Amino acid sequence: MAKHLLDFQDLSKKEIEKLIESTQKIDINSMKQTSSLSLLKFDEPSTRTRLAFSVAAHKLGMKTFESNDAISSKIKGEELEHEIETYKSMGISTLVIRTKDENIHEYKECKDISIISAGFGTLSHPTQAILDAATLNKFNKLKSKIPITYIGDVRRSRVFESGRELLSKLGYKVGVFTHEDFLPEDISNVEILNSWDEVFDACSAIELLRVQKERVDNLDDLDIDNYINNFQVNESILNKTRKEFIVMHPMTINVGIEISEEAAKNEKFKYRDQLAYGISSRITSYLYSMEQI
Ligand code: CP
Repeated sequence: MAKHLLDFQDLSKKEIEKLIESTQKIDINSMKQTSSLSLLKFDEPSTRTRLAFSVAAHKLGMKTFESNDAISSKIKGEELEHEIETYKSMGISTLVIRTKDENIHEYKECKDISIISAGFGTLSHPTQAILDAATLNKFNKLKSKIPITYIGDVRRSRVFESGRELLSKLGYKVGVFTHEDFLPEDISNVEILNSWDEVFDACSAIELLRVQKERVDNLDDLDIDNYINNFQVNESILNKTRKEFIVMHPMTINVGIEISEEAAKNEKFKYRDQLAYGISSRITSYLYSMEQI
């Protein structure tokens, strides 16, 4: 039976807790080897996720292959069903997909091979959510009602969608503090915060999200200076925070927009701790898809 990790909709609280625990515990130098084949299909740019899935596969002894829509027969009208059937016939057991498409439901129907989202449109980025949750847990943030507040282009963010979904399943709400144009349409399990003071009162961790210029329809409407004045994390904002306050970022970081150059060097900025879980969260997702956790 193919087991997907496309989002967290069908996962139980216990299963999600196991994914976080596995990500924190994995020793990447002593992995059990498997001979499975994995196809990485990335139709959007990626620095971290693609490499982390490749390295994770290598650590597990899996062989990876790469493809994308531009060099496949999709351009000739190939249907998803036939594409997946072809992969299965070649012995590929896991498809890792990054796409700007929003048809995640079609992939959920697939019974032939396991599929892992490596960033699916604006809908999901579950392995990022797992490593973010592992980072929150490392810094003891999974204790308050609102473990984290998201700041930035929340509306178009798959990092937010998966983070909100994962944390909701564990019984938490998430904070959102952002420009009105970036607010999510669905505000279930969301606490809208209206000032930095409200953010500091609600939680001691924030995740900055990039202003996604490639997903904003009309860039001319975007007043970036106004955004920076109100929502950029700078030294004066960080000076108002408690000692245990942390700032996270899934990267790519636009230094000078969501965070100032000085603040990006502040020890409260924990993106390196997130990076450190990059490979283990992908190993965890492969193991989950192989029903090994
Ligand atoms: N966080 C993240 O998804 O980074 P990449 O786009 O570089 O994979």
